[in-house]
Amino acid sequence: MKKIEAIVREESFDAIKRALEEKGYFGMTVSHVEGRGRQKGLKLQQRSGEFEVDLIPKVKVEVVVLDEDAMTVLRALAASARTGDIGDGKIFVIPVEDALRIRTGESGMDAV
Ligand SMILES: Nc1ncnc2c1ncn2[C@@H]1O[C@H](COP(=O)(O)OP(=O)(O)OP(=O)(O)O)[C@@H](O)[C@H]1O
Ligand SMILES: [Mg+2]
Repeated sequence: MKKIEAIVREESFDAIKRALEEKGYFGMTVSHVEGRGRQKGLKLQQRSGEFEVDLIPKVKVEVVVLDEDAMTVLRALAASARTGDIGDGKIFVIPVEDALRIRTGESGMDAV
């Protein structure tokens, strides 16, 4: 199993959710997070001058899937999060050792 962890723009979340649903992936964890990439935040221009925002609000979407579904989910996430501008986000693929559906006791691939 793999966990696909995508940190994306807040605006792209609806499109991501729709894309995953269309492909039959429903389970996900969503968190509102703050982060920065290689630009170390953002420079904003205001009338009072320029100021820096260190951490930018983002949405983190975590989806755990079978190995053979990992690429499909990764591509769907990337396609619906991409604008081509700086700050589109990042996706990490993380191996998952085990899973447990608490209600039924199913584990491993049956629990995903
Ligand atoms: N190396 C990293 N480790 C952990 N989280 C990261 C890392 N890089 C980026 N992130 C997370 O991803 C979010 C989006 O990053 P961002 O898209 O700005 O990446 P980038 O590498 O700067 O690419 P770009 O040049 O397109 O902006 C960040 O706000 C942060 O939450
Ligand atoms: Mg960046």
